[in-house]
Amino acid sequence: MKKVLIASLALMGSIGLCSTALGAITGTAHDFSASGWSQGQICIPCHAPHNNNNTSGELLWNHEVTTATYTLYGSTTFDAVDADQPGGVSKLCLSCHDGTVAIDSFGGASGGTMITGDRNFGIDMGNDHPVSFTYDTTLATTDGYLVDPNTLPDTVKMFDGKMECASCHDVHNKHNQNALLNIGNGGSALCLTCHLK
Ligand code: HEC
Ligand code: HEC
Ligand code: HEC
Ligand code: HEC
Repeated sequence: MKKVLIASLALMGSIGLCSTALGAITGTAHDFSASGWSQGQICIPCHAPHNNNNTSGELLWNHEVTTATYTLYGSTTFDAVDADQPGGVSKLCLSCHDGTVAIDSFGGASGGTMITGDRNFGIDMGNDHPVSFTYDTTLATTDGYLVDPNTLPDTVKMFDGKMECASCHDVHNKHNQNALLNIGNGGSALCLTCHLK
């Protein structure tokens, strides 16, 4: 009986491990350690422990921050009340993904390697899922087809109560999904986490 119990506990343990296996940034699109300009490191283009390029005082941010002004998303049914220029952590993503700042502009040096292809969104955010607006219970009620954000799983977290790029993605590939998503989008599972459609 004891052996059976131990065996089943071990089995439960390994299943648990499989289902919660964390991904890692190593080898992903954000691992620039093989580029000549990265000093062979992974974190340094974005964070540095000391003497970083930090202007906001947060995240030990070491990358040059974009100053672009964007064309914003808009529609007659968009209910968010404070949608404005991308800020917070989304602005950090756009500091490479809007194509105005070089990927290797960090640590105070200006680089020259620009992002290309579909990964370069440009400064027109009108055809991208909106970000940097408050997603609270009031918005869910007004819209009528949104999950109350207080009941969302931790995987799609808000930042200061706002929806950001990192609500859907983890730049460090924490969840080991395609396109660095926080929840895999097979069957549109990511979309259905928030949208009651
Ligand atoms: C391509 C840029 C980039 C790289 C490379 C990167 N990060 Fe980040 N990191 C970010 C951004 C953007 C955020 C804020 C968004 C978020 O929290 O997901 C962040 C947030 C964090 C945070 C605070 C939030 C949390 O999840 O705990 C820590 C700690 C962190 N990074 C550590 C690291 C370490 C350690 C490395 C290297 C192994 C690394 N990062 C590599 C961009 C990067
Ligand atoms: C230091 C510059 C930099 C920063 C900061 C950065 N990225 Fe990237 N990202 C890149 C580059 C370069 C690529 C790969 C482009 C390529 O290979 O075509 C990429 C690729 C991606 C991809 C595609 C990955 C795949 O496997 O398909 C996603 C998704 C992504 N980034 C999201 C983010 C998000 C979200 C943030 C902020 C939380 C962020 N990035 C911050 C430079 C950056
Ligand atoms: C509402 C969720 C959501 C938000 C918010 C979001 N993304 Fe994505 N993103 C996705 C999904 C889903 C995909 C995969 C699309 C596909 O495979 O066609 C994706 C794909 C990408 C890609 C890969 C290129 C491509 O077109 O396939 C990049 C780069 C990216 N996102 C960066 C960002 C950045 C930067 C932000 C913030 C400005 C952001 N994302 C905000 C859901 C989101
Ligand atoms: C983390 C939560 C979250 C996820 C995941 C998410 N969305 Fe959204 N989405 C929102 C919120 C909140 C709004 C703002 C709704 C509003 O203000 O009308 C929004 C807005 C939109 C809009 C614009 C609605 C309008 O009235 O103009 C569309 C379309 C949309 N999302 C589609 C998607 C799709 C497709 C996916 C999956 C790839 C997705 N969303 C994933 C939270 C999310």
